[in-house]
Amino acid sequence: MNMLKKNDAIFERAKLVIPGGIYGHQSVKQLPKGYPQYFAKADGAYTWDVDGNRYVDYMCGFGTNLLGYRNPEVESAALAQLMLGDTVSGPSELMVTLAEQFVSMITHADWAMFCKNGSDATSIALVAARAYRNKKKILLATGAYHGAAPWNTPVLKGVTPEDRANIIYFEYNNVESLTEAFKAAEGDIAGLYATPFRHEVFEDAYFPSEDYAKAARRLCDEHDALLIVDEVRTGLRLSRDCVWSAMGVQPDLSTWGKAIGNGHCISAVLGSDKVRQAAEEIFVTGSYWYSSVPMAAALATLKQVQSSQYLEHTIAVAQHLRDGIAKQALAYDFELKQTGPAVMPQMLFANDPDVKTGGAWTVAMLKHGAYLHPYHNMFLSAAHTFADIELTLQASEAAFIEISKLR
Ligand SMILES: Cc1ncc(COP(=O)(O)O)c(C=O)c1O
Repeated sequence: MNMLKKNDAIFERAKLVIPGGIYGHQSVKQLPKGYPQYFAKADGAYTWDVDGNRYVDYMCGFGTNLLGYRNPEVESAALAQLMLGDTVSGPSELMVTLAEQFVSMITHADWAMFCKNGSDATSIALVAARAYRNKKKILLATGAYHGAAPWNTPVLKGVTPEDRANIIYFEYNNVESLTEAFKAAEGDIAGLYATPFRHEVFEDAYFPSEDYAKAARRLCDEHDALLIVDEVRTGLRLSRDCVWSAMGVQPDLSTWGKAIGNGHCISAVLGSDKVRQAAEEIFVTGSYWYSSVPMAAALATLKQVQSSQYLEHTIAVAQHLRDGIAKQALAYDFELKQTGPAVMPQMLFANDPDVKTGGAWTVAMLKHGAYLHPYHNMFLSAAHTFADIELTLQASEAAFIEISKLR
């Protein structure tokens, strides 16, 4: 049973000193009652809320946890660097080593730049794409999330039409719609953003067709525009390279964040030689962008990405969870759609537009020690074990039994 006494008391204090008590996507304001807002600690695949409840965590810090919370190699590299200095008057050698590492790992990359959040990376890519041929328009799939900057935030309060004046929308995975968008821009297209697969809240997730990915590449080439693949959410969790590499499609720019420092604050823009000069000419910076601790953490993360079976293990445990939950849904007669890759699963009940069933199911699971999300895609990490999945399956079965009574 998850008691949230301390959690609720902290939230009361927060309401006095933080607008609305909380902001942003880690707010539980939109979630059903029963979700903890504040966490005390994390380790491996687990988090503990401030009331001491322990959960097998399937949000993984919204994708920042790739190898497990407090991964020993990552933390000892970060700690060693912390002892030498973090943010000083310039970057350390680690920045160059990290750029070399990305360039050697990611097929399309000839250079790298580092920043803090995914939104920094996608905004740098936008400016670089416009600088490339001095063109203005940016093509975005309707409803696709690339960060909280005015050019893309899903909430329009405080955003002006001018902020979006040069954005053209098209339908994801629709070659015709994409072709029309290129036509509508009359030769003024700077870049096209693509996520490797469709992973929006409240929606079933899906991969685009190979035709779509290839059309995106071809149309960009025909219009001398840049293909920007946003790997902020997917990066390193689905592949050791850009995800569309498997289809033979290479972007000109790719944006990375979340998992690359295994929880340490760092994001990146990677680019091909074609965009090098534009990237050199723009001005982008941030007081903390040269900080060395997250770079040490990212290097230790990439080392394990290349030398361990983290990906294969994560895929295997994730598939075990997907199969187990599918079996239970069938047994308890619920139509539960599990979409997207198993390592980033989206779980939505059919005919549940207000997510009432989904919310009741995930809240019931919290009480049994598993933290899932009712409408956002989730994340598995290399620290999840088959034993953790078995514990989760006990929680999900108890939750199916509980929501069966609501019918
Ligand atoms: C695809 C994608 N791009 C960009 C971002 C923005 O990243 P951040 O929240 O680190 O600014 C996100 C965050 O969820 C994302 O999923």
